Amino acid sequence: MRFLELVENRYSTRDYLDRAVEREKIERCLEAARLAPSACNSQPWHFIVVDDHSLKSLVAKETLGPMGSLNRFTLKAPVLIAVVAEKPNLSSQMGAIIKNRPFYLIDIGIAAEHICLQAVEEGLGTCILGWFDEAAVKKLLDVPAKNRVELIISMGYPAEVKAAKKRKPLSQVFNYNRY
Ligand SMILES: Cc1cc2nc3c(=O)[nH]c(=O)nc-3n(C[C@H](O)[C@H](O)[C@H](O)COP(=O)(O)O)c2cc1C
Repeated sequence: MRFLELVENRYSTRDYLDRAVEREKIERCLEAARLAPSACNSQPWHFIVVDDHSLKSLVAKETLGPMGSLNRFTLKAPVLIAVVAEKPNLSSQMGAIIKNRPFYLIDIGIAAEHICLQAVEEGLGTCILGWFDEAAVKKLLDVPAKNRVELIISMGYPAEVKAAKKRKPLSQVFNYNRY
């Protein structure tokens, strides 16, 4: 697949087939994340792949929100990947302070997208989730108190056709040479 075609084919998949995802496919997605760039090559991430059905169901329930109405597709997704922030290396920490910018969060966003793009190559669908009960997820997955779970990525074989992309026109999102 051409790269732009791959990018076009990634979409937030919110319905999944009842079909297990092969671990070698998951690991190629994680390899894509491992190779992602990061500030000062800090690699401030750890991925917890939840593919055990009963544990996955418990984590999925923590993404539904107080009314139980959000992110219900996680209940059908066979895999959830918790993206955990690790302490960045000293140069990245110093840079973040000096430049007043949380580089580690940018790093994690890039790594998450690498996972989602490799997933397309594998015939899988994903959705990045920022809405979940972090404290409950940490408890379920034995994440140390000092680490945060920044994102969860749902993954599985799509049970839906790709949604049309809704995006601002290119002309609205860039300029040459001046803002
Ligand atoms: C940081 C982040 C958090 C997100 N959180 C959620 C979420 O909690 N639930 C959800 O259904 N989609 C979530 N999304 C998916 C976005 O809604 C989606 O990427 C956006 O609408 C564009 O659609 P597309 O991914 O299909 O191109 C999130 C995406 C990002 C990058």
